[in-house]
Amino acid sequence: MDRTAQLTARVTERGIAYDAPSTAPWSASLHVRAARVLAANWTGGSTVPSRSLYPHQWSWDSAFIAIGLRHLSPLRAQTELETLLAAQWEDGRVPHIVFSPSVPLDAYFPSPDFWRSSTAGRAAGAPRTVQTSGIVQPPVHALAAWLVHRADPGLSRARGFLARVYPRLATWHRYLLRRRDLGGGGLVSVVHPWEQGMDNSPCWDGPLARITPAAPRSFRRADLDHGAPEDRPTDLDYGRYVRLAADYRDGEYADGGGEFAVEDPSFNALLIASEHALARIAAELGAPGAARHARAERLTAALVDRLWDDASAMFLCRDLRGGTIRERSVSGLVPLLLPGLPREVAGALAGTLRGPHFAARTGLVPSYDLRGPAFEPNRYWRGPAWFNTAWLVERGLRAHGEKAAADALRTAFLHTAGDSGFAEYVDPDTGKACGAPGFGWTAALTLDLLHDMDGAMETGEEGGDRG
Ligand code: SER
Repeated sequence: MDRTAQLTARVTERGIAYDAPSTAPWSASLHVRAARVLAANWTGGSTVPSRSLYPHQWSWDSAFIAIGLRHLSPLRAQTELETLLAAQWEDGRVPHIVFSPSVPLDAYFPSPDFWRSSTAGRAAGAPRTVQTSGIVQPPVHALAAWLVHRADPGLSRARGFLARVYPRLATWHRYLLRRRDLGGGGLVSVVHPWEQGMDNSPCWDGPLARITPAAPRSFRRADLDHGAPEDRPTDLDYGRYVRLAADYRDGEYADGGGEFAVEDPSFNALLIASEHALARIAAELGAPGAARHARAERLTAALVDRLWDDASAMFLCRDLRGGTIRERSVSGLVPLLLPGLPREVAGALAGTLRGPHFAARTGLVPSYDLRGPAFEPNRYWRGPAWFNTAWLVERGLRAHGEKAAADALRTAFLHTAGDSGFAEYVDPDTGKACGAPGFGWTAALTLDLLHDMDGAMETGEEGGDRG
């Protein structure tokens, strides 16, 4: 029997079940508090990452949120992914933001009138009914869809959930594999730091230095209305983000001509995990999944071949113009998620996590090298520990038999998430809350670690196509 089906899910007038799976009071209270965050951030068809800082639907946030939401309401988790995929462009891209028409334009920058998806995105097939951004985010969605299905296969089959999302997920992966292999080596490139998701990581300092920033007075940041400036990217970073996004828009979102193109380990590892998930979804729908598993294995080989760095004992990013980026970031540890990694690579990654560059006092994983020259403990992706990456690394440690390390990371995650009020991110040594409070994926992944103790991610071929 599916273990999540044993949970006492209950729908209340707000659609959220508060029943906790454990008798331990701290975990029961953590469950209730995390569920309340997701209830507060739910908008009716999807979940905002934060009511203040991010008041629309974000692509990879929604995937992580669905993974946690499945423990409260599998129906709501399915809806979260369906809402996002309904905004897919005809060329296959899943936009990184789906804008809510009820939110004022000045509540978030860049707003719909910057991206102009319905006009600038027309050639690429942007939807007419909803406004979106034109860039993408990491493809966690097929993995999320599979985990959501597994939470309640009966409901999923009754609603035809997988049958409806499978074609969209397949087209999404096809877009990435065909249109974004800008380096020609089989891996996908991101064309904007917002696509990779770790916006101001020191990894991008080199490639971004080539970009002429947009004039400071040509745009107004909305993030500083809600977030502390010392926790957020700098104005100079923003000038470059705006320049890159505006150039992409002005080229009608055609791929291949931009000034920023980077092969990133985390983005590609998530695609591989999702490709394995898509193979399982295909098998559940009665189609063979072997070809997809084989493609995922080829992508894993390309990842190791192109991005593994023996000297650092981790994966590094590759700037298609400037070559290997020698900064160590948590992105280079995320591929541990893949059970198909060579044993010596997985062992080396586990060692790097225990070493001086990443062993932080909270027990969480810093977003950037603790000893790196650009380390800042509270500035967004330049050092703070984030909970989605901790979840990915925890699942990876578990998949590779590193049970003690996985248990320790899980405990650190749950305690710090609860103590910080489900913060967006924390100082990796002190656990001090940074960014937005009541953050969607922090609450969702707390629920997942509370409920799914064995971490049955099925992110590789091992274990067969169970449905
Ligand atoms: N993370 C970006 C922001 O801060 C965009 O996705 O708004």
